[in-house]
Amino acid sequence: MGAANRPIGVFDSGLGGLSVVKELKRVLPYENIVYFGDTGRIPYGTKSPETVIKYARQDEQFLLQFNVKLIIAACGTVSSVAAFTADELPVPFIEVVTPTARAAVKASKNGKIGVLGTNTTVNSCSYKNAILSLNKEAEVVQMACPMFVELVESGWIERDDEVTTATAKRYLKPLLLAGVDTIILGCTHFPAIKDIIADICGEGVTLINSGEQAALEAAKYLKENGLNGNGGKASYYVSDRPQSFAKTAEILLGSPIDGEVKTVSLDEVKK
Ligand code: DGL
Repeated sequence: MGAANRPIGVFDSGLGGLSVVKELKRVLPYENIVYFGDTGRIPYGTKSPETVIKYARQDEQFLLQFNVKLIIAACGTVSSVAAFTADELPVPFIEVVTPTARAAVKASKNGKIGVLGTNTTVNSCSYKNAILSLNKEAEVVQMACPMFVELVESGWIERDDEVTTATAKRYLKPLLLAGVDTIILGCTHFPAIKDIIADICGEGVTLINSGEQAALEAAKYLKENGLNGNGGKASYYVSDRPQSFAKTAEILLGSPIDGEVKTVSLDEVKK
């Protein structure tokens, strides 16, 4: 297969990375995609950096079997603590933190930027450091929102969901009190509840979707390197099949799953 028609490999700890696939399909509709969601080991965002690095390496090796031309870490947590594993790969690698921080700095008018992420992402200060490297005057308010991951994987994502709305209000309060005008959805699960978050924040706050920024970065890379493909097929691999898989996947993807879904054993991933 010519280099350009090889698939793009995308991975996440679970289904959140499908928010990146959704955007990839929008900006790169002719690319073949292989997705791996490590649903058997989710969440990554409450685990130590050492564990996330180990998992990220295994996920990357799993995707390399498919002769991918590019790997996207569609996970804020992996991007925060394991982006350096890119140096060990024979293919280019795109992570979500750098392009998302760039978009947030561009969008913010008052320099007050909120970051919502997992515990591991927030503890790493990855988004905060990336923002400050672009604007050292910026004020960054971080909030770890581990319960969002659970709510999204469980499919509690309807706009009027009372539990998710109450949880979001509590997480967002310190950011809104600080007067942020821009909020990074720094975990790829969070775009699934962006309407709930937007309703609470109101019109004065711009939400930056890390999934969208990663997809735009991938589109730019492929174009600049003459690697645009001609296919449009997707296949999906997960290391466990959660009960609410179809519903959650459809919301994150913005349409029903359009390709084969295979469950692989963790032994296969760990090889
Ligand atoms: N989707 C992932 C992220 O972007 C992580 C969720 C988790 O595994 O905790 O951080």
